[in-house]
Amino acid sequence: MEQIKGYSYGDSALDKSPITLQDLDLLKKTLLWSKDDERYLNMAGKVLQDQTDQVLDLWYNYVGSNEHLLYYFTVDGKPDERYLAAVRERFKQWVLDLCNRPYDQAWLDYQYEIAKRHHATKKNKTDKVDSVPIIHFRYIVAFIYPITATIKDFLAKKGDSPQDVEGMHNAWFKAVTLTALLWCYPYVQQGEF
Ligand code: HEM
Repeated sequence: MEQIKGYSYGDSALDKSPITLQDLDLLKKTLLWSKDDERYLNMAGKVLQDQTDQVLDLWYNYVGSNEHLLYYFTVDGKPDERYLAAVRERFKQWVLDLCNRPYDQAWLDYQYEIAKRHHATKKNKTDKVDSVPIIHFRYIVAFIYPITATIKDFLAKKGDSPQDVEGMHNAWFKAVTLTALLWCYPYVQQGEF
């Protein structure tokens, strides 16, 4: 597999997530996570495997047509194409990781890494760009809806039954909510997460 620039999933040098596997279990329980969700996510992984470019076209079109969002990819007020392109490759991989990876310690640790990459702790460092310093917290949460709503048509493209499409979509919604909330960690004060 071609190496994705800046993608360091499973790297032993990553910081350990401050959230434990026990915390993760309780979060999943809170999200009404079930064995069916795992099965449906794996199914979604197969359905989305060869569609990640089209998915990213749609999401980048959405970001690109919203100046207040594109702002987070700008350097000196202009969108940085190199930055956008580098993040796009990791974003494509994230779609597949969300569906296919086991949610274990390595997964948790990479969620912590991505959290820091959105926050001032580490934004811009991976791609060595001089862009704006932080993605504001409010948009991390707001993104859950568009990332969820827009995936449905892609999940329906491979002829699965409406019931299976619904199952995949529901599991995707839970998985996106789970990741986005893990990425909120650096934004809240110690002891408040
Ligand atoms: C990075 C997904 C919210 C802008 C990334 C990456 C993924 C991702 C997968 C690459 C991670 C990696 O380095 O491996 C998501 C999801 C979000 C979300 C699922 C919410 C549910 C946002 C928002 C913005 C944004 C609201 C603002 C427009 C960026 C930027 C980077 C990035 C600028 C690069 C950060 C860096 O410098 O390393 N995002 N994102 N993201 N995202 Fe998000």
